[in-house]
Amino acid sequence: MYDGGKIIPGLIIFVGLMLFAFFNNAGKKVEAPVVAKPYGYKECVKPVEYMRDSHMELLNQWRDEALREGKREPVEVDGKLYEKSLQNGCMHCHTSKKKFCDVCHQFASVYPYCWDCHVPPQEDMAMEEAK
Ligand code: HEC
Ligand code: HEC
Ligand code: HEC
Repeated sequence: MYDGGKIIPGLIIFVGLMLFAFFNNAGKKVEAPVVAKPYGYKECVKPVEYMRDSHMELLNQWRDEALREGKREPVEVDGKLYEKSLQNGCMHCHTSKKKFCDVCHQFASVYPYCWDCHVPPQEDMAMEEAK
């Protein structure tokens, strides 16, 4: 009928491989992506926890204030003033879109459309200037 002599060892190997695959992956965490820290700055415009969770809300708030309410007063970080702006504010310190914004967004599968209009920093030049 069938060749039990091959099926049984075959099954044992199969189950062994499945168990190996299971235990080999068990306990591995999904690591959050590592983003480039701004060179020469210690603080963000808000506490870092808030920024991680809510930077998109802050950006909307900045846009509405600047464009609709005409409130373009600069924001203060660590005693220095920065423009309330995506290009000239956020990207003044975060000089790489690719190594910062994109790293997280690809990880989270979100693709903000902001860069259809706003100009991202020129990657290499911005890095050179920051040095
Ligand atoms: C004055 C420089 C500066 C400006 C302006 C600035 N940031 Fe930051 N940002 C930083 C620094 C420095 C950190 C890291 C802080 C830390 O690790 O404690 C940071 C952290 C962050 C983080 C968290 C990153 C992480 O490691 O998880 C996000 C998100 C962020 N910024 C987005 C923005 C956005 C969006 C804007 C504009 C609305 C902005 N930043 C403006 C300096 C700046
Ligand atoms: C620490 C990781 C991280 C960094 C760094 C980061 N983002 Fe995000 N961003 C996210 C996550 C996660 C979401 C999706 C949040 C959600 O869906 O609730 C998001 C969403 C957004 C959104 C809303 C998009 C949408 O379709 O809802 C905008 C706008 C945005 N980010 C702008 C930026 C900009 C500009 C930068 C760089 C200056 C940046 N982010 C850096 C993690 C990050
Ligand atoms: C259709 C084009 C377009 C898109 C897409 C767009 N913006 Fe803008 N945004 C503008 C224009 C034009 C201004 C006005 C520039 C000025 O007067 O300073 C502006 C201004 C802003 C400002 C205030 C001033 C400044 O220089 O940054 C913020 C903040 C801003 N946008 C954030 C965003 C964010 C965040 C996204 C993505 C979620 C986005 N914008 C998508 C066109 C666009």
